[in-house]
Amino acid sequence: GQRHPKYVIGVSQCSEDVWRDKLNNELRIAAFSANDIDLRISSADDDVALQTQQIDKFAEMGVDLLIVAPGQMKVSGAIERAYDKGIPVIVFDRRTHSNKYTAFIGADNEEMGRNMARYLSSQVKGNGRVLEICGLYTSSPSIARRRGFDMEAAQHNNLQIVEHIECDWTEQQAYRKMDSLLSAPHAAFNYVFAHNDRMAVGAKNAARKHGLDLNAIHFIGIDAMAHKGGGMPMVRDGELMASYIYPTRGDKVMKLAMDILEKRPYKRENLLSSALVTVENVNVLLNQEEELERQTDNLLSLRRRVETTTNAFDTQRSYLFMLLFLVTMLLAA
Ligand code: FRU
Repeated sequence: GQRHPKYVIGVSQCSEDVWRDKLNNELRIAAFSANDIDLRISSADDDVALQTQQIDKFAEMGVDLLIVAPGQMKVSGAIERAYDKGIPVIVFDRRTHSNKYTAFIGADNEEMGRNMARYLSSQVKGNGRVLEICGLYTSSPSIARRRGFDMEAAQHNNLQIVEHIECDWTEQQAYRKMDSLLSAPHAAFNYVFAHNDRMAVGAKNAARKHGLDLNAIHFIGIDAMAHKGGGMPMVRDGELMASYIYPTRGDKVMKLAMDILEKRPYKRENLLSSALVTVENVNVLLNQEEELERQTDNLLSLRRRVETTTNAFDTQRSYLFMLLFLVTMLLAA
């Protein structure tokens, strides 16, 4: 039995990675409990043209609400078209220059950059010569993280940014760019601040390949995810000097969506709180996060079981109807 959902919500993700997977799962779980939500998630795999198409398609099919993480600032056109059609739009995590959106939800990336520079300055022995590995220059979190970090670093005599490198947020590209940086004459550095943990890992692996003294160079990232290989375990194990929680909070994103759809009051700008992660607090945070992830996994598998049972039930029911139909026909004959 197909029922009509009360609301269809389109989600346009810009990229595919563990951070987005976690967020998508949180959105799914929040949608189950909101009930009657048909959640459609599309992923543009860092392709602006593809993301534009996917958003246009959501607008065409007339979703009730659109949630979008614009990979780059220039994804604004499609968002504006949807908004002008009267579809409420939640922009989250990344921004565009456009004012045409219903609400924004995400962390304060500039503050994260500032806090990182402040922390670094408090930890540096001697002079901190920092190599900054930025996310795409056309992605808003990269712009904001750099602005916060660089402006704060300028206030501290023991910090100097020796070079900026632009990367596309992936580990692979950070590895390649670090590899080519180290293959040519370059400024000396003893700190690497990468705009996410994946790029910090890529850069560190390239440094390792080039035989750099990894006890003398400290790596810092952002995201601080709890899974194996994520930022938190890496901080715990001393692989990263620090990271910063970049909150996913799919629950809050969905709550905002429901408030808008059900015409409850909501705020247009919604900042999610986040936190610096160092050896000092990583164990506590890791425990909390692992517990949350266990719950998420439990809920998802519970839901899958319910769906399988429902499907089995639907199949049985159709057989029953067919049988009834045949019997009726036979009796009528
Ligand atoms: C995930 C990601 C994160 C980063 C964020 C910035 O797709 O690349 O690693 O913090 O996007 O928007």
